Amino acid sequence: MTAQQRKVLVTSALPYANGPIHIGHLVEYIQTDIWVRFQKMRGHDCVYVCADDTHGTPVMLRAEQEGITPEALIERMHAEHLADFNAFHVAFENYYSTNSEENRVLSQDMYRRLDAAGLIDKRVIEQFYDPAKEMFLPDRYIKGECPRCHTQDQYGDSCENCGATYSPTDLIDPVSIISGTTPVKKESEHHFFKLSGCEAFLRDWLTGKHNTAEQGAPLQAEAANKLEEWFAAGLRDWDISRDAPYFGFEIPDAPGKYLYVWLDAPVGYMASCKHYCDASGRDFDAYWNTDSDAELYHFIGKDILYFHALFWPATLHAAGYRTPDRLCVHGFLTVNGQKMSKSRGTFIAAAHFARYLDAEYLRYYYAAKLNGSMEDIDLNLEDFVARVNSNLVGKYVNIASRAAGFLSKRFAGHLCRGLSDIDREVIAALQDASETIAEHFEQRQYSEAVRLIMALADRANEYINEYKPWELAKDPDQNERVQQVCSTSIELFRILTVYLKPILPALAQKVETFLDIAPLTWTDAKVLLGDHTIGKYEHLAKRIDLKQVEKMVDDNLSEQEQAAATSPARHGEAQQHTVAPIADTIGIEEFAKVDLRIARILKAESVEGADKLLRLELDIGDGEPRTVFAGIKQAYAPEDLPGRLTVMVANLAPRKMRFGVSEGMVLAAGPGGEDLWILNPDDGAQPGMRVK
Ligand code: 2FM
Ligand code: ZN
Repeated sequence: MTAQQRKVLVTSALPYANGPIHIGHLVEYIQTDIWVRFQKMRGHDCVYVCADDTHGTPVMLRAEQEGITPEALIERMHAEHLADFNAFHVAFENYYSTNSEENRVLSQDMYRRLDAAGLIDKRVIEQFYDPAKEMFLPDRYIKGECPRCHTQDQYGDSCENCGATYSPTDLIDPVSIISGTTPVKKESEHHFFKLSGCEAFLRDWLTGKHNTAEQGAPLQAEAANKLEEWFAAGLRDWDISRDAPYFGFEIPDAPGKYLYVWLDAPVGYMASCKHYCDASGRDFDAYWNTDSDAELYHFIGKDILYFHALFWPATLHAAGYRTPDRLCVHGFLTVNGQKMSKSRGTFIAAAHFARYLDAEYLRYYYAAKLNGSMEDIDLNLEDFVARVNSNLVGKYVNIASRAAGFLSKRFAGHLCRGLSDIDREVIAALQDASETIAEHFEQRQYSEAVRLIMALADRANEYINEYKPWELAKDPDQNERVQQVCSTSIELFRILTVYLKPILPALAQKVETFLDIAPLTWTDAKVLLGDHTIGKYEHLAKRIDLKQVEKMVDDNLSEQEQAAATSPARHGEAQQHTVAPIADTIGIEEFAKVDLRIARILKAESVEGADKLLRLELDIGDGEPRTVFAGIKQAYAPEDLPGRLTVMVANLAPRKMRFGVSEGMVLAAGPGGEDLWILNPDDGAQPGMRVK
């Protein structure tokens, strides 16, 4: 181990064991894997661990629905997830499971340590209980009418229509979505971790004072600001227990009480590390003791910042372990500028993508977009095709294909010993960028790294265009120059391969075979091949056609539609929406007070600052278009609506909203979010006709 060699333990968030890996998840795994591969190429001792997040109610219920044990379900998911990661070249040192013996021991021990430190509080709380199913209900398993805007079929924690957050006991007419019965309130003793007492430590941790190495603060500024907001709102104690039945680990000395999944999930990072250490002869304590000389990096999405920036460092510290050096927090994935959507076919499983397209192309595209911030990144499918074709294939791979033919045909693959000053100059230009590119990788500014690498590829192509080996080859006196230019091109190609290798490991391996060289490390950018014979050029990468991508999305859509039509309904999914109780009887006169009209949608547009709303302009035949703000953005693309007929409540009192005045309401059915369907009259109905 050299003096500068870093020892780094890296994790990605543990995916839930109740669903497949999709292209949204891959933003994180690809981002982490690139960083880990880069560290290894730099000669550091970097270990990357992960696991399936197996516990909790959703896994328990899904297994029950499939008629199998939770253990059988998580075993199947584990194999599927691993296959997906392999397909995308995400290479963990260990991919484990939170339902492991190591995790049970570590999680229960964590609880004991927190208890011994006086940080566990027991309090009786009242919660909804499903008497038919004989279980307490998590918030997401209860639906009812929003207490604020009175929209039906809203979850127990927040309303998808008006955005209100509340407790499930505030819902009007609550229903258990598991049994369809009305839940009852029931008391139970819960165990709380006293997060409220940890603010001073957390503030200290935020400064980077607890870090192993001089890595600066553990959070990006935007994430640190979020923490300030949470501090300002006051840290609340954390309920870490759940009542049986629950798929998880029992709380020591508390029969019938289980550790909440979010307590044992991050301990799963430690358990995976432990399993790896035991198998490889490493020292687990050297990673987790307070005097550890290893850096600890967690890559996570912005949605789980609260768990990783508050609970996790606080529990680790309180239990006497070291704390994370850095959380690398990223945003979500959008596809063509919109949230991934089943109804648009853009909710794409990793395995589906890999059946149609080269998985490395997605790695390249994500790298070209990732900038180390918490901003969302967009997978624009046309841009994806354009970048892969013009940059990766057109600029980079092209260099090798332009030079290799001449070298093998005329010189049996021998590179020439002596290069000219001009050749050395262009090589030096590429070599000189090595540390700048390395710094971009280190800071996870991959988009900057890719931009610079492609600028260097341009430089290499300019060199080839200037000396035109295909022209030189026509003149027998220029034979040596042909060899020089092609040898230089191969050196340039090899240097670019070093820089791209963290992103494109499989392609880099093909290049290593083609060039007949040992696996490239970062320092190889600085040394030349010199007197060397390369192997035979085999095709390295091919262009993609937008049609392939469109077919991938279309087939995804039809497969999902088919699956939805044939599979039994699942809890929480649209097809199994609960039927809300029928409202109190009204007379015809009361109904007649509601003036429903056929309306033509003239215009539909997004509303800045509102995730759920579209501003609609509706024609109801009287020459005075009405503006209506409708909470249907997640279900409809604005461009799909103009021209359609629907039904609106025309005499609803105008409502002043933050974005303007809403002059009515469009009728829609469904639980909300993506699962909303606006009413659509039969052909022949005209704007302005009354609906009676
Ligand atoms: O949000 C999620 O997908 C969780 N399964 C992540 C867990 S990460 C860690 F804490 F285990
Ligand atoms: Zn509401």
